[in-house]
Amino acid sequence: MSSSCGSKSSCSSGSCSSQESQQAAIAQQDNAITRSLGKIKNKILVMSGKGGVGKSTVSVNLALGLANRGHKVGLMDVDIHGPDVVRMLDMKGSLVAPATPDALVAPLQYNDNLKVVSLEYMMKDRDEAIIWRGPLKIQAIRQFVADFDWGELDYLIIDAPPGTGDEPLSVAQTIPRVQALVVTTPQKVALADVRKSINFCKTVKVEIVGVVENMSGFVCPHCSQTVDIFKTGGGEEIAREFDLPFLGRVPMDPRVVMAGDDGTPYLCSDAKSPATEAFAAVVSAVENRLPPVAAPAPLKMSDSGCGCGGGPCNPTTCDC
Ligand SMILES: Nc1ncnc2c1ncn2[C@@H]1O[C@H](COP(=O)(O)OP(=O)(O)OP(=O)(O)O)[C@@H](O)[C@H]1O
Ligand SMILES: [Mg+2]
Ligand SMILES: [Zn+2]
Repeated sequence: MSSSCGSKSSCSSGSCSSQESQQAAIAQQDNAITRSLGKIKNKILVMSGKGGVGKSTVSVNLALGLANRGHKVGLMDVDIHGPDVVRMLDMKGSLVAPATPDALVAPLQYNDNLKVVSLEYMMKDRDEAIIWRGPLKIQAIRQFVADFDWGELDYLIIDAPPGTGDEPLSVAQTIPRVQALVVTTPQKVALADVRKSINFCKTVKVEIVGVVENMSGFVCPHCSQTVDIFKTGGGEEIAREFDLPFLGRVPMDPRVVMAGDDGTPYLCSDAKSPATEAFAAVVSAVENRLPPVAAPAPLKMSDSGCGCGGGPCNPTTCDC
């Protein structure tokens, strides 16, 4: 009987043992998360205060750009209510159940260097609306990390929904040393929201790798000249205000929309244009700031000295 049992009757009802088995399951999942993250060098959460500013577009193009340069990359879509990544990459296929219950689930493989996990390809109907409350979202994000076979990665790019809700908070709590890449558009109204994202990162102690200003100027489809129909430079201004690295400015280009809708991401296209060059510059800036070098990842040691967390070693889940 556990010393934390309140009464004999609650024990005989089995609530103590179910509480204990729940705690054991959480500890086991914590270990799986630690093991999975230990093999990932850089974790980048792409976020913004406002919707529709291009987080998914930046996530997809950043992931592809890094993968094209030979890095091992994972792309995790935690926008549970509006997952877009799989559509933008035009990926087909669904989850394949692992051979044994303890085996990890294989992510979708976009190419040799890019693995993708999104809730979208776990749904039977892609147009189904997801109505989930906070705890379920947190659990989904923990499972994305713990249960999938990400393997050794140089970069894990995480596409978040807008704002500072359950998803970015769960990512911050589940993934130690995750760094935020903040996407904004140049208008003042977007910049007010981006301040909230920056303050959120400060509150939850997530470092910010930098700011990207998207939809900065418009590339004319006729003459390919860039026209500043909105103000530009707001993202750079905010980066300066908060003393953050500015990672680059991507112009608005109708071909980016077409590429997203067709599932042929823009960086994959042959077109040499200000937008592809701008995306490539953002990829270089991220590569320079976060080189693919393993960060020291101290594991919590168990009583027996292995990586099983604070408690005793669990031989069924431990590699030791
Ligand atoms: N630089 C760009 N030029 C032109 N269109 C763009 C650019 N960046 C993004 N878009 C388009 O803007 C729309 C919104 O982009 P996206 O879905 O990436 O934004 P988001 O911030 O992820 O949105 P949400 O907050 O809904 O998740 C898409 O149609 C996308 O193709
Ligand atoms: Mg999105
Ligand atoms: Zn023109």
